[in-house]
Amino acid sequence: MSNRLNVTPNDLSAFWMPFTANRQFKKAPRLFVGAKDMHYTTDDGRQVLDGTAGLWCVNAGHCRPKIVEAIQEQAAELDYAPAFQMGHPKAFELANRIVDIAPEGLNHVLYTNSGSESVETALKVALAYHRVKGEGSRTRLIGRERAYHGVNFGGISVGGIVGNRKMFGTLLAGVDHMPHTHNLAKNAFSRGLPPHGVELADELERIIALHDASTIAAVIVEPVAGSTGVLIPPAGYLKRLREITKKHGILLIFDEVITGYGRLGTPFAADYFGVTPDMLVTAKGLTNGVIPMGAVIVSSEIHDAFMQGPEHAIEFMHGYTYSGNPMASAAALATLETYKDEGLLTRGAELGKYFEDALHSLKDHPHVIDIRNIGLVGAIELQPIPGEPTKRAFSAFLKAFEAGLLIRTTGDIIALSPPLIVEKHHIDTIVETLGGILKALE
Ligand SMILES: Cc1ncc(COP(=O)(O)O)c(C=O)c1O
Repeated sequence: MSNRLNVTPNDLSAFWMPFTANRQFKKAPRLFVGAKDMHYTTDDGRQVLDGTAGLWCVNAGHCRPKIVEAIQEQAAELDYAPAFQMGHPKAFELANRIVDIAPEGLNHVLYTNSGSESVETALKVALAYHRVKGEGSRTRLIGRERAYHGVNFGGISVGGIVGNRKMFGTLLAGVDHMPHTHNLAKNAFSRGLPPHGVELADELERIIALHDASTIAAVIVEPVAGSTGVLIPPAGYLKRLREITKKHGILLIFDEVITGYGRLGTPFAADYFGVTPDMLVTAKGLTNGVIPMGAVIVSSEIHDAFMQGPEHAIEFMHGYTYSGNPMASAAALATLETYKDEGLLTRGAELGKYFEDALHSLKDHPHVIDIRNIGLVGAIELQPIPGEPTKRAFSAFLKAFEAGLLIRTTGDIIALSPPLIVEKHHIDTIVETLGGILKALE
């Protein structure tokens, strides 16, 4: 017999929460029960300003009418269509709309249900691509220290956050890592791209010299690393990575799960940096976070390499039950329409300077050792409490929530990424609230 009768409907113990301090949370739960535009509503009726677009995903703000209606209509019209050997019109329409806004040359879309799955998909495409091209010796994958590429085995293997890796055995074989680019000694309080560190891209040449290019399939990087604490690439760094990968026939994958769909004030970070990868990994903002969906956008060269052999044969043995799911497709189409109608994919370019000045006004506040920003993403790095890493920033997170502001913290870094509908007065509120919290922090 289960102990079901002992479980009250609002018992919090059964849900083992993701990336959460479960015991702390369940002693003092933080629950949202509603949301509209820039604000959440808590279960005790308070308004909380969303400084993080949910988890970097609600780019158009909350409960936007077009998206709500699209989901409601789709649920009544076509709930599900098999993803394999069958289709439905919206998945095709959406792929075209994604390609419309993607960098030139990226013309084909594989659907997933999350950023993690998009990463796995891209890594598998990379390996299989070289194989169908007759270069099956290219099996190595190169990631970067401090990178976050989701939580699945490929992603944590190329990822570089030790806490996310160390518990899970030997991970994928044949993975190497470039150094991260975070350098407080030289680049603290940079506005936009840090000036120092382009030469770190040359570490890729060293790795290639060690393994030989003929063994390397792909390099994956976040153009701006988000989850590890907003690490902005040094000026010229991504261009150099592109030159090196191209020279050696290695695919370049941009993980734009955070930077995609307008975060930097351009549709994708690839546009911001003027660097086109071979594959672009996306999720989050694609559906405004409303329904899980990801998309990997690949070049025609990659796609076309697979289109060979007998026509009745499946060209790429990969896919998910929910790839291009009708509800998700409807949500994504309405999301992209909302972005277009309201100019949200480029709004960060207009507001970026205001956001930058506001954030950097906190420079002389207690504990602040760096402030950095690009587009509508920013970070405030705090001096950790000696011997108690993460505690100071977590305490800031709790105090912010009490004060009516949602921030995100990772390590001792406060990350900010408001919905792209943010107004100047919201930015003022974010910065004033944080200013007060920093002054009151232990
Ligand atoms: C760069 C990057 N890649 C992958 C992921 C994983 O996405 P998901 O949590 O949807 O699996 C994230 C999530 O934050 C991310 O920031």
